[in-house]
Amino acid sequence: MIVLKSDREIEKMKEAGELLAACHREIAKLIKPGVTTWEIDQFVDHFLAEHGATPEQKGYNGYKYATCASVNDEICHGFPRKQSLKEGDIVTVDMVVNLNGALADSAWSYAVGEVSEEAKTLLDVTKNALYKGIEQAQVGNRIGDIGHAIQTYVEGEGFSVVRDFIGHGIGAVIHEKPDVPHYGLPGKGPRIKEGMVFTIEPMVNVGRYQSKMDDNGWTARTIDGKNSAQYEHTIAITKEGPVILTEQ
Ligand code: MF3
Ligand code: CO
Repeated sequence: MIVLKSDREIEKMKEAGELLAACHREIAKLIKPGVTTWEIDQFVDHFLAEHGATPEQKGYNGYKYATCASVNDEICHGFPRKQSLKEGDIVTVDMVVNLNGALADSAWSYAVGEVSEEAKTLLDVTKNALYKGIEQAQVGNRIGDIGHAIQTYVEGEGFSVVRDFIGHGIGAVIHEKPDVPHYGLPGKGPRIKEGMVFTIEPMVNVGRYQSKMDDNGWTARTIDGKNSAQYEHTIAITKEGPVILTEQ
């Protein structure tokens, strides 16, 4: 069942989203060679506490950290760790903020120092893919229109779209209906309605789209060891079009 949200609920989620966006803007300043994803996770924990919010991912299905921090070939759900980021790495920081019971979810990929041309292009294409998907999130369209737009664009740029992890409705809990794949056929899937709130979060790989799971049971990485990037926004569907609740 897809739960539709009231204007009041969306307003509260937007407040959570604005705080999350502010947190990402601070993270952008911290990312440089030598910093650890552990330090970034600690920063997020403190930043949210200072602003009266909590990291919803901590404790979710036994997950232990405020953020997911996925480096290079890690696609998603990387664990923060005490190993320094180095020049040329890319890192995706993903988090869910709970502010007064309202949730917002946003992931952002960052370049560490100077990165390769290929990595720069991957970051650009992945971010563009997110916005191509958001453009399709219109009342009357179908969920498949979002994935189709993303897949067509990404594959046209010579990269691939991860299939094993998808966007999702969000509300009382992190994961609700609808499922929002970043691939697929136009005109398929549930019809998009006013009051829906869901994430669009394409994970894009330089090489093959398949993923494999680490022994920790959480972290997914590319099967060919090539880089993966991700950008994610939480969006609300209104009559006037999609509203990005986590815009930086
Ligand atoms: N933020 C993630 C998403 O975009 C959810 C991560 S669940 C966690 O779907 F348990 F890893 F935190
Ligand atoms: Co997320």
